[in-house]
Amino acid sequence: MNAETHYLQSKTKQFKNKYVRSFAPASVANLGVGFDVLGMSIGSLGDEVSAKRLPKKGEFIFKMDSSLDVDLTDNPDDNIAAQVAKKILFDFNPDWGVEITLHKNMPIGSGLGSSASSSVASAVAINGLFDEPMDKNSLIPYVLYGEGLATGVEHGDNVVPSLIGGCCCIGFDSKIKDENIIDKFYSIPIHEKFVFTIIHPNLIINTKDARKVLPDTVSLATMTRQISQASCLIFGLMQGNESIISKYLYDDVVTTPRSKLIAHFSDVRQAALNSGASGVGISGSGPSLFAISTSQTKAQNAAIAMQSVFSSNNIFSRYYTSKVDKKGAHIIESSID
Ligand code: HSE
Repeated sequence: MNAETHYLQSKTKQFKNKYVRSFAPASVANLGVGFDVLGMSIGSLGDEVSAKRLPKKGEFIFKMDSSLDVDLTDNPDDNIAAQVAKKILFDFNPDWGVEITLHKNMPIGSGLGSSASSSVASAVAINGLFDEPMDKNSLIPYVLYGEGLATGVEHGDNVVPSLIGGCCCIGFDSKIKDENIIDKFYSIPIHEKFVFTIIHPNLIINTKDARKVLPDTVSLATMTRQISQASCLIFGLMQGNESIISKYLYDDVVTTPRSKLIAHFSDVRQAALNSGASGVGISGSGPSLFAISTSQTKAQNAAIAMQSVFSSNNIFSRYYTSKVDKKGAHIIESSID
C-alpha cells in the first residue's frame, strides 16, 4: 500500500457526522373498490424522521417528538419507526450508530396511513445516512415489514404510495398461490383535473379491528363485479371521466361492513355527493373519508358539506383538499461534516 492509498483509506474510515430529516406523506388506501391494491399519496400532511450518525457502532437511540394529544411510547421495541430503522441497520451493519427522532404529526387510527408514514419516513431517513443510499424500490421490503408489525398484514397500499408518490397499484407474486405477496407496483397516472378531499372525523379506528369486520370469502359473482368496478375506476381516473368515477367508486365488499364503524357515514357521503363530488369512499380502514371532485371549488364544497354533517352531530373534523402528491417521501434537510 503506498502512502497515498493509506492516507485515503484512513480518511474514509474517519467518522463523519451526517444528519438527515425526511418527510413521508399520508395516503388514501383502497380507493373504495381496490382493497389492499390501490392507494395514493396525499402530501398535505405526514410524519417526519430526523436521523444522525453516532460515532459508536451499533449504538441506537430513539426519541419521540409528537404534536399529538395522545401519549405515544418512546420505547423503540414498540415503535414502528424504530423497528424499521433497526431492521435496515441490522441488514447493512454500518460502522456507526444512529439516533433517530420520530416527529409524529399524523393522527393515529385515522385511515390516512399514519403508521405507514412513520415507517416510510424512518426508512428514508436511515437510508439517507448511508454514503450510497439505496433507491426507493429497495426500501419497499422494509416499509412493508413496518406495516406488517403495525397492522398484522404487509399490505402495500399505504406504504408504497407514501414512499413512491402518486397513485399506485400493487401487484402480487403470481407464483405464490395461497398468499398475496407483493412483488411489484405500478403507477397509475391520475388525470390532472381530479382534486381530492380528505375529511378526518375525531374518531379512532384501528386497522386490525377494521379488518375483522370483513368477509373471509366472497362469491364468484361478487369477485367478478369487484374486478369490473376496480378496472373501470382505474380507467375513469386515468381518463378524467367523472361519470365513470360516480358509477364505480363505491364497493359493497369492504366499504359496506366498515361503514357501520363510522358514525353518520351515509349522511356524510350523501352530503359530499349532493355538493358536487364525483365519488366518495372510506380512506383506508377509516374513519377518514375521501371524495373525488373535478375542481378545487367542488372539492372545497364537498369538504364543507361533509364537515357540516359531522359538526351537526357534535363530531369535530379536519379536512384537507389536494391533488394527488406525485413526489412521495423525500429528504427535507441534510448535512454532513
Ligand atoms: N388496505 C388496508 C385496509 C389499508 O383497508 O385494511 C389500511 O389503511
